[in-house]
Amino acid sequence: MELKITVIDHPLVQHKLSLMRDVNTGSKEFRELVNETSMLMCYEALRDLPLKEVEIQTPLGISSSKIISGRKLAYVPILRSGLGMTEGVMSLVPAAKIGHIGTFRDPEASSGTVGYYCKLPRDISSRDVIIADIMLATGGAACEAIRLVKETGARNIKFMCLIAHEQGIAKVNAAHPDVEIFCAAVDPGLSEELYIVPGLGDAGDRMFGTK
Ligand code: URA
Repeated sequence: MELKITVIDHPLVQHKLSLMRDVNTGSKEFRELVNETSMLMCYEALRDLPLKEVEIQTPLGISSSKIISGRKLAYVPILRSGLGMTEGVMSLVPAAKIGHIGTFRDPEASSGTVGYYCKLPRDISSRDVIIADIMLATGGAACEAIRLVKETGARNIKFMCLIAHEQGIAKVNAAHPDVEIFCAAVDPGLSEELYIVPGLGDAGDRMFGTK
């Protein structure tokens, strides 16, 4: 099956991702890089926002100009690492509402992943939604988060991550073909512990200094 994913290959994104991968990059710098990269990626992921024509009075005349036509956004980070991408997204779309979803792997569950926390904006069904996690490895957390958001009736959903593996991409593509995925890189390996290789390690630990 052909994988459907948009790789954001902007040089600034690629440069910052390389710095994040570096084992010598400490938590403070890592958080700053996640923040900056998320903003750049969100900018690309929202390039299809609809515009409408308005007339603006400038100091010298009337300009036929364009503004974003009223679609509202919700941003839903997957705990923990998606949290680090919040500031970057919110700096571009300050009126977005924020939801949170937490998941854990459970081999006993039919889907392999269980949502243990889900708090979403009450009006999320009328908003476009960006769900984010730094890594898209097996796709379990992403699929569970998308399922929980869709349960509210929300339909226009995008998924944003920094590094993806083809297993996760294939799982999201198959379960949610309507959800566009954006990443900065697709890496080739998946370790026995289900870390993306070469990847950047445990994104939550790198960000919060918990290791
Ligand atoms: N989560 C991480 O933090 N890193 C990976 O490589 C995969 C999942």
